Amino acid sequence: MPSSTTLIDRFGRKVDYIRLSITDRCDFRCTYCMGEDMEFLPRDEILTLEECARLVCAFVDLGVGKVRITGGEPLVRKDALKLFQDIGRLPGLRELTLTTNGSQLEHYADDLRAAGVRRINISLDSLKPEVFRRITRVGDLSKVLAGIRAAQKAGFENIKLNAVLMHGINDHELFDLVDFAITQPLDISFIEEMPLGEVDHARRQTWCSNDETLKRLQQQYTMLASAESTGGPAKYWRIADTHTKVGFISPHSHNFCEDCNRVRITCKGELFLCLGQEDKVDLMPLLRGTTDDAPLRQAIVDSMQIKPKGHDFDIRRAQPSVVRFMSMTGG
Ligand code: GTP
Ligand code: 5AD
Ligand code: SF4
Repeated sequence: MPSSTTLIDRFGRKVDYIRLSITDRCDFRCTYCMGEDMEFLPRDEILTLEECARLVCAFVDLGVGKVRITGGEPLVRKDALKLFQDIGRLPGLRELTLTTNGSQLEHYADDLRAAGVRRINISLDSLKPEVFRRITRVGDLSKVLAGIRAAQKAGFENIKLNAVLMHGINDHELFDLVDFAITQPLDISFIEEMPLGEVDHARRQTWCSNDETLKRLQQQYTMLASAESTGGPAKYWRIADTHTKVGFISPHSHNFCEDCNRVRITCKGELFLCLGQEDKVDLMPLLRGTTDDAPLRQAIVDSMQIKPKGHDFDIRRAQPSVVRFMSMTGG
């Protein structure tokens, strides 16, 4: 058994949040996330759902209280629901949640809620079918809207939309997206596009600074700064006289690495210590073919020694800062 029961890195940051990607596959091909022709991993190279559950248990034993399931799109994995059911009520787990593109949510919302998921984040970059299709390459907006409705009916305590605004592509929809969030009512976060993977648009021209987005919103609404946190990197503002809070995830304009509390695990079992760096530990060999969790736990504890200080994203460069696509690490 490791001597430590909490995960603390060299900079004194406590890690209590894991993002576990259960598949690299997705039924969309968002232009900021993936290339058009992706090769996905064969089944035997990815963690089984039992291995995923074991990993989650090991992290929870080490003091992790928040688990977010990601992908690719987590709900395209067959039997994904079973994982939620298996880990949903683990003692010590404060929050089990997921980030989804919403396409399958119509089918799973009720069961996810029943499995103990209280909060979910749904990506939504456009309310115009043709713009939505351009960004996702293949996505059907009506399915996502149906997924959002199903989630509302299922009674999640909170639903947050995630939008990546891009100049000349969907930035003209800022007010439509926020008005949609207000009328539903839902929360919404704006994410500055990050340079992961080689994509086919010039990110340095299309990325939108959240400082600018906030300024635009302040011209239309009374925005009230809030100290609320959901345990992720978003800084929140409330819109006066509504039930909506707006989050800003601003890796470029407001670096948040100093407060980083999370690590991510790919569906291959790679433990990445930072979204924007290559430092990793391969956990698969410690899981497959053995039932002894002690070496696994020790490797997780030791990994804290290589957690980097932060990312070096430079959106002005033509080359991506990190070669792997966002879909590998689930954001
Ligand atoms: P909550 O705060 O729990 O609602 O979630 P979250 O914002 O952490 O998760 P979500 O999956 O909705 O992620 C939203 C965006 O934040 C995605 O684009 C993620 O890539 C990004 N994000 C999450 N964690 C980090 C991080 O550690 N570093 C960077 N640069 N981006 C992150
Ligand atoms: N930069 C910023 N956000 C991204 N996402 C996917 N790729 C990128 C990127 N390159 C977002 C998705 C989803 C979340 C998991 O990450 O829109 O909401
Ligand atoms: Fe799929 Fe999400 Fe990537 Fe879009 S951003 S391709 S929905 S994993």
